Amino acid sequence: MGKRMIIEAPAKINLILDIKGKRPDGYHELETVMHQISLADRIILNPCASGIKLGINSGLVPYNESNLAYRAASVFFQKNGFKGGIEIFIEKNIPVGAGLAGGSTDAAAVLLGINEIYEYNLSEELLLEMAAELGSDVPFCVLGSSALARGRGEILTPLPSAVSLAIVLVKPDFQLSTAEVYSKFELAKVEQFPDTRAFLAAWGRGDVEDIAVNMVNVLESVSIRIHPEIAVIKERLKELGALNAVMSGSGPSVFGIFKERKGAAQAAETLRKWYSEVYLVSSYKRGDYDGKKEIIAGRP
Ligand code: C5P
Repeated sequence: MGKRMIIEAPAKINLILDIKGKRPDGYHELETVMHQISLADRIILNPCASGIKLGINSGLVPYNESNLAYRAASVFFQKNGFKGGIEIFIEKNIPVGAGLAGGSTDAAAVLLGINEIYEYNLSEELLLEMAAELGSDVPFCVLGSSALARGRGEILTPLPSAVSLAIVLVKPDFQLSTAEVYSKFELAKVEQFPDTRAFLAAWGRGDVEDIAVNMVNVLESVSIRIHPEIAVIKERLKELGALNAVMSGSGPSVFGIFKERKGAAQAAETLRKWYSEVYLVSSYKRGDYDGKKEIIAGRP
């Protein structure tokens, strides 16, 4: 039997998010840049004789078979033959229902972890296939770092780690359902679309100001209608010096990109007067989060 393993499972933000149309399968055709940040859950995996057991230090996430991390273990064992069992403990740090792929990243960590603990040695391609079955954001979480995602989110082009961004993330005290936001999306109501090519060119140059200027998320057109507070947070971040601020995924989290960490830290301090969940983070690097060893999720 393999040994116990601790895995960092980082959150993601969407630096741009465009929707090209609705697909026959009901999903939306995406063009988005996903970027892992230094806010992470920790997944502790313990091999055991049989079965899947789940523990979480949070009452906000389902504690049963519907949990995406549980489903990841279940899909892995079903597809590849059951070599044993697994105990999963999730130390939840990423806000739930926030547009930060918290559930997806836990699921990705479980796939990567079981592959390693039980020495299945599955290829990245096979892991990505299982990931796509679990959810649209899970493949990116398996791949890690930064990537352009198309299709449902599963067609991935890795991007170089051009820059380390100084980011302030605000999670307002309400949640949004991804399915609800997507179902209310209307192309005609979008005021601003991202220019993906311009964004990628800025990314290639590592030009933080140009990266920030090109950040746009078309799902804001829905989420701000449901919760106008999202627009207020964007404005506050910009007033406090952010080069630009946008919503992540289907929201409601909003993040601002700053030129320097110092300015970001000052803005975060001010924002904490109004919001209880404010995070000063940066682009994710493996092991950055808390310096723990035995980490395999996310690329360096
Ligand atoms: O794939 P996942 O289960 O994470 O998606 C959650 C919901 O988000 C889906 O049920 C769907 O309503 C919506 N979605 C979408 N188009 C995408 C990704 C998600 O419509 N590309």
